[in-house]
Amino acid sequence: MQLSIVGSGYVGTTIAACFAEVGHDVVNVDIDEEIVASLNAGDAPIHEPGLDDLVAEHAGDRLRATTDYGAVRDTDVTFLALPTPSEADGHIDLSIMKAGARSLGAALAEKDGHHLVVTKSTVVPTTTEEVIAPILAAESGKTLGGDLDVGMNPEFLREGSAVEDFLDPDKVVLGSETERGASLLRDVFDPLVAQADDPPVVETGVAEAEMIKYANNGFLAAKISLANDIANICKEYGIDSEEVLSAIGLDHRIGSSFLGAGVGWGGSCFPKDVAAIIAAARDVGYDPAMLEAAVEVNDRQPVRLLERLRDHVDPDGARVAVLGLAFKPGTDDVRNSRAIPLVEALLDANADVVGYDPVATENFRETFPGIDYADSAESALDGADAALVVTDWPEFADLDSAFDSMSTPVVVDGRRIVTRRDGIVYESLV
Ligand code: UDX
Repeated sequence: MQLSIVGSGYVGTTIAACFAEVGHDVVNVDIDEEIVASLNAGDAPIHEPGLDDLVAEHAGDRLRATTDYGAVRDTDVTFLALPTPSEADGHIDLSIMKAGARSLGAALAEKDGHHLVVTKSTVVPTTTEEVIAPILAAESGKTLGGDLDVGMNPEFLREGSAVEDFLDPDKVVLGSETERGASLLRDVFDPLVAQADDPPVVETGVAEAEMIKYANNGFLAAKISLANDIANICKEYGIDSEEVLSAIGLDHRIGSSFLGAGVGWGGSCFPKDVAAIIAAARDVGYDPAMLEAAVEVNDRQPVRLLERLRDHVDPDGARVAVLGLAFKPGTDDVRNSRAIPLVEALLDANADVVGYDPVATENFRETFPGIDYADSAESALDGADAALVVTDWPEFADLDSAFDSMSTPVVVDGRRIVTRRDGIVYESLV
């Protein structure tokens, strides 16, 4: 099929390359000339395992990029993969989506025949039908349910395994209100489903598809927060939370994934999506108590980490090494990393902070230009009065003798990753 993807960010670039991989002809539309040039030269504009190879293989053949929205006219289906950032009160900001829909609609005004526009971005329920579709219809002059259909196809890929997650998903969710739209969506995904490990395909309505994305992320974030709540109780009793959580994970109704207790969840999705669905729920008169509690527990974890530090070292004037700045291991992304509230609190407490991350230092420096940065965990620990572990990078498991160079070897582990040894004062958060 001929597909167009509007937006070449994390999701847009990954799905464009993966759709080309399963045999579709794909054009990526983006307003950023640098990204377009990079894609056309066969270079992925973001770092993600396997993506470089796919872009290099398909660029100039089944994958191309352009700044010209007119390219969508030669395609059957367009996916809107534009950012939906947070407003200060948690609501999603639809201005980029609306602008994209206007440009897309204007381009479609000159297309004869039918077109399907699919929302790939995470948007709160009813956005596709009540905000995006009317803009598309007005700009294109096309009739909804006639020569224009809209659909919704939420994306569940994770940073660090985006290509793998997209090509071998747990499920595919296709949201449509018309048979023609549903049939086109099926055609788009058939080759992907055929090469994957037989994922269930959920055919549903457009608003249901929008809600499935929030329900998925809200549930996972709440699952981690519940694991943290339980682990905090364990900590107060001196019970090993890891043993407790791994035992409950054996119950198939609970499952063992996303029970990793620690300093909490961050990233570009969980915090934004949980805030957005809470704000949307309140708009329709519902107070989502569980999701609000999930945020509250998550906000408390960095505070608790600092309290564990204070049990051993007064941060005022102390040299504190913060190990791990990325929101999770395997990425240089620091968006909503738990290291952010932690470093803010350390600076408020007048600590002398030195940060270390294997890959995320430069991104963290943009938010915190004033703290020290080390180019290895060993040099961050050298002379430090305490170390706080924030991200579970595997290399932090084997620091071993590196702790010997600390001024006082106090290690407060927010991810239970450090291997305990004699000669250090080890304190885990949970
Ligand atoms: C998440 C969803 O998993 C994905 O389906 C969605 O499309 C986007 O958001 P991502 O943000 O890439 O993906 O990261 P993920 O691996 O889910 O981790 C999110 C956060 O939760 C990280 O900060 C991680 O450290 C934390 N986490 C994860 C825990 O604290 N404990 C766990 O057990 C798992």
